[in-house]
Amino acid sequence: MMAMAEHLAREDKPFHLTYGGRTRASMAFCQRLDRLGDRVSFLAEDTQGRADLETIVRDLPDGGLVYVCGPLGLLQAVQAAAEAIHGADQDVVRFELFTTKGLEPRVGASLDADDYELVLARSGHTLRLAPEDNILEKALALGIDVENDCREGICGSCVTPILEGTVDHRDLVLTKKEQAAMAEMMICVSRPTCARLELDL
Ligand code: FES
Repeated sequence: MMAMAEHLAREDKPFHLTYGGRTRASMAFCQRLDRLGDRVSFLAEDTQGRADLETIVRDLPDGGLVYVCGPLGLLQAVQAAAEAIHGADQDVVRFELFTTKGLEPRVGASLDADDYELVLARSGHTLRLAPEDNILEKALALGIDVENDCREGICGSCVTPILEGTVDHRDLVLTKKEQAAMAEMMICVSRPTCARLELDL
């Protein structure tokens, strides 16, 4: 966040950073961030309370985004505030997770069939798979070179374009709008909801 703020300041781009901590003494880099002037707000919880997340999300300029970093509870609170203001399919909050610990598994609609057809268009493979089969593992077993890292749907490295078909998105990378667009999927966690899924792989 600090690097992003400093970059935006150098580029003379508009931003505001709200930096919260339990006490002022516990907040690192205050001196450095002070150089950014009134574009940074410091909120020490013991004397000033917590950030008003709904106000932050409501006061966004047109096209503005909220990037949030912190404990899982904070990320979820910012998302909830954004959904309260901008609706359930809000597309304004961006964050990065480093673990899925503490999160409920994301499981939605799944294909009500024993198997489906998976077409990997670029490598020329057509497979019949069970809906719960892991597409990333199947692709790697075929010798297809797919970037991957977390295998939990949080890093985005296995993102794969969907050429045809629909999926139950179980990742935490794509926004709800991106998921609804069905243009790409994280093949380490997401599952088909159609009888034929064609990927650009
Ligand atoms: S490997 Fe990280 S999202 Fe799939």
